[in-house]
Amino acid sequence: MSHPIVALTGASGACYGIRLLEILIARNLEPYVVVSPAGRQVMAVELGSGDLKDRLGESGYREEDVRDLTSPLASGSFETQGMVIIPCSTGTLGSIAHGISSNLIHRAAEVSLKERRRLIVVPRETPLSTITLQNMLTLAQAGAHIVPASPGFYHGPASIQDLVDFVVGRVLDLMKIPHQLTKRWTGMPVFISGDTILNSGIEEEN
Ligand SMILES: Cc1cc2nc3c(=O)[nH]c(=O)nc-3n(C[C@H](O)[C@H](O)[C@H](O)COP(=O)(O)O)c2cc1C
Repeated sequence: MSHPIVALTGASGACYGIRLLEILIARNLEPYVVVSPAGRQVMAVELGSGDLKDRLGESGYREEDVRDLTSPLASGSFETQGMVIIPCSTGTLGSIAHGISSNLIHRAAEVSLKERRRLIVVPRETPLSTITLQNMLTLAQAGAHIVPASPGFYHGPASIQDLVDFVVGRVLDLMKIPHQLTKRWTGMPVFISGDTILNSGIEEEN
């Protein structure tokens, strides 16, 4: 069985990566995980610890050292289910767009592209420079999915978790992993009178 690769880099939004990992682990997909040094720092700032074990426990995933270019993830001969970089810094995005494979995250992403495997990149930055926009276009043209960490609000989010789940749900959609993380849009609302809504346009969770 091949496994998905998940990388967490130093963009804000460590919660997105952790949430995706929780789901992949719960599905017994045994993801390979790589965290950049800046990713670890942002995890510590945002989640209180830069150690995956504090959020995920010790089993159900395999963590690779970002400096270890002897990792199986560095070779196209090692089969994987593709890679998600979540959150993805503009620095990592730029390195991959320009083929600069100076760590295991960049190299595994390069391998995903050259082997025509799925590469999903979840950048978080605002505003975006011309350079970053060009790098996003380069990656999209090379076959990557660019999924900005920008949750929608049409599904009636009531919590930060709902916003996180919106973004992670779109990533799972691209990975073809069924989920019920968020309510799906089923059409325009139908109003019966005034502002009383008969059909909100949102599919109920079941
Ligand atoms: C608290 C904190 C938040 C950051 N947020 C972002 C961000 O949202 N987007 C981004 O591209 N970089 C952000 N950075 C900067 C990156 O961490 C920095 O560019 C780093 O070199 C990225 O390295 P990496 O791509 O190897 O993880 C942030 C840094 C810190 C300390």
